[in-house]
Formats: sequence, C-alpha cells, structure tokens
Amino acid sequence: MEAESRRIPHQGYVALVLCFGLFVSTFCYIVKPCLLSRSNHSSSSSPPALFVFGSSIFDIGNNNYINTTSLNRANFWPYGETFFRYPTGRFSDGRLIPDFIGEYARLPVALPYHNPGYQSYIHGANFASAGAGALVETHKGYVIDLKSQLSDFIDVKKSLRQRIGDYETAKLVSEAVYLMNIGTNDYAVFVGKSTKYSPERVQEIVNMVTANITEVIKEIHKNGGRKFGFLGLWNLGCSPGNRQTSNESSGSCLEALSLATKWHNIQLSMILQKLEKELKGFKYAHTNSYDLINDMSDNPSKYGFKEGKVACCGSGPFRGHNSCGGKRGDQYYELCENPNEFVFFDGIHLCEKAYKFLANQMWVGDRGITWPYNLRELFED
Ligand SMILES: *[C@@H]1O[C@H](CO)[C@@H](O)[C@H](O)[C@H]1NC(C)=O
Ligand SMILES: *[C@@H]1O[C@H](CO)[C@@H](O)[C@H](O)[C@H]1NC(C)=O
Ligand SMILES: *[C@@H]1O[C@H](CO)[C@@H](O)[C@H](O)[C@H]1NC(C)=O
Repeated sequence: MEAESRRIPHQGYVALVLCFGLFVSTFCYIVKPCLLSRSNHSSSSSPPALFVFGSSIFDIGNNNYINTTSLNRANFWPYGETFFRYPTGRFSDGRLIPDFIGEYARLPVALPYHNPGYQSYIHGANFASAGAGALVETHKGYVIDLKSQLSDFIDVKKSLRQRIGDYETAKLVSEAVYLMNIGTNDYAVFVGKSTKYSPERVQEIVNMVTANITEVIKEIHKNGGRKFGFLGLWNLGCSPGNRQTSNESSGSCLEALSLATKWHNIQLSMILQKLEKELKGFKYAHTNSYDLINDMSDNPSKYGFKEGKVACCGSGPFRGHNSCGGKRGDQYYELCENPNEFVFFDGIHLCEKAYKFLANQMWVGDRGITWPYNLRELFED
C-alpha cells in the first residue's frame, strides 16, 4: 500500500515535469521566433520575405476583395475542394505555387494583401490579381494590373518603415525574394483566339508586354529589391480552353497564342540576362514552364498523371469552356473525380499536384529548367 501510494505521486510528478518541459519547449518553439521576428525580423532565424506579383496563377484571393466579376474570381465550389475544402479564391483544387514556395522557405501561411485583416508585412505580401496583365488595358476596371501591384508594394514599404524603421526595412526589402508571372492575360486579350494572325503584330505585343514588365522590375530594384524569381509562361495556345476553341475534335493548339507565349519567354530571358549586367546586385531564377507543361500534356504518365489535355472541371470536349463552378454564365459543367490525375484543373489553370511539381522545379530544379539560380539559392543567399 505504502509503496503503491508513493509510486503514484512519483509518476504524477514525472508526468508533470514532462508536461512542463513539453510546454516550455513548445512555447519557445512557437513564440520565440515571433518575438525575434518582431524585434529583429531579418536575423538569421527569420527567412527572407516573399513578395508576389502576377495573375490568377499566383492570386491567393486578392480578387475576393475588389470590385470584379465571377470571371475573375474563384471563390466558389469546386475551387479549393481538395486541400482547403472550401473556396479561397485560388484558381485550382488546392494550393498554388506561392503557397508551396512559402512553405519551402518556412514562411507562415500567407493571406492576400487585399484582405483587410492582413497588415503585417514582415514576411512579405501577395499582390497578384486574377485576370491582371502587364498592360493597364488588360481587363481594365476588373483587376489589379501590374503597375498597381507595384504601387501596393511601395505602400507596403512605407508601412514597414513606420513600424520597423528605415534600416530594418531596407534590409528586409533587399533580402526578400520577388516572385513574378504575368503576361498570359495580355496575350489572351490582345492576340486573341483568331486562327488568322500576323506574326509582326504578335512580336509587337510581346515587346510591349515585356517592356512593361522590365519597367516594373527596374522600379522594384530601385526600391531595394535584388532577388527575383520568374515563372515563365506556359503554352497558352495548348490550354484545354484554347484547344477546344481551335478545333473541338482534334484539340490542336492555337498557333498565335503558342507563339506569343513562346516569344515572351525568349524575350524575357534575354532581358533578364541584360538586367543582370546592368542592375547592381540583381540575381534571378527563371523557370521554363513552357517545355515542361507541353511535355506533361503530351506524356502525363511520365509525371504521375492520367490526363494532360482535358481539364478536370468545365464543359465541352476538353472541359475547356470556362464554366467550372457554374457561376460564369453557364450553369452546366463537369467535374472529374480525382484532380490528382489531371494536369489542368480548368480551361487555363493547373491542378494542385501540377503546381506542386512546378514549385519544386522552381525551388530546386536543375539548370535545364530553372536558370541561372534556383529559388532555394536565392532564399539562402
Ligand atoms: C463595381 O462595378 C460595377 C460594374 O462596373 C459598378 O456598377 C459599381 O458601381 C462598382 N462598385 C464600386 C463600389 O466601385
Ligand atoms: C507599356 O504598355 C503601354 C500600354 O499599356 C504602352 O503604351 C507602353 O509603350 C509600354 N511601355 C513600354 C516601355 O513599351
Ligand atoms: C479539325 O480536326 C479534324 C480532325 O483532325 C479535321 O478533320 C478538321 O478538318 C479540323 N477542322 C478544322 C476547321 O481545321
């Protein structure tokens, strides 16, 4: 009896010590980085911030907060069905590339910049807006174009200076990584879906789009940004939507849009090589998604998919019609059972599994795909 009654409190004491130890270590683990990041956010314990510019491919829900239409929104089911299990505004069944990059960089889960509850920019901000282009005319009035995203960034910088001072802000901005993918909507609007086109006109638009992107890169650099990650455009002419427009039975690609996106990537890659020589401290990672997504479409099983050309959600022979969710005019749409088997989720956008694959290629992809640095090198630099 006596031994028994002694053993019980003893065990209780051990359990208490263990519990306390666990509590202290958990507390330290969770709270200490926060405390550190308040007082000395850019110390080695806090990863570089991530600033994101772009369109629906990167938009984690900014368009939920602006005046636009359901064409530029994905805040309804089945968007978000697999990972979040509710629609967040992301154009996919689950997470997008910036979500994965943030995760690989050990950054906290990001909220869209335009979410009124989001005001601490210590870890960066996502300014991307579905439907947006590098040209202000693209879907004007319904999206946050690239120049306005740049203004948002400059506002963030002002707010940071008020909170953490000039020195810490300059440090945060120069150590941060700037992720960008834009142009698809400019080509969709200004090159269009016509099968007749003039290559000279396509080249002209490519020059205009890439020149506007260059201006924004230079402005970010002038504001202290140094490390840039670019996701090249994938072949817009071969999206399920454009295959369906081109020829419902063969699903051939729309040549003008294939050319526009291909030339865009070539032009941007030449510009980046030039900027690397011109701009002090400028470093970048450029990911060739064009060849990769073409190969994923043609050989889906090589990448663990079953279907590379037909979308998971939409209507028509390639489910390329932009009706996923039934809120964009047409109520009828089909939905696949398992998005993990599909490269494309809707007529334009990819499924989470394909985005995850791309994010990985941006993070640690070999030089044939991501060049001259990869994102991990930029974050660790
Ligand atoms: C939103 O856009 C619609 C259509 O363009 C317009 O009628 C409405 O006044 C706008 N609302 C605000 C708050 O700007
Ligand atoms: C940027 O785009 C506008 C059209 O939105 C165009 O007028 C302008 O020339 C472009 N900028 C450059 C540097 O090409
Ligand atoms: C569409 O593709 C089918 C099958 O390859 C072909 O027979 C037809 O001529 C094509 N239609 C057009 C308008 O190109």
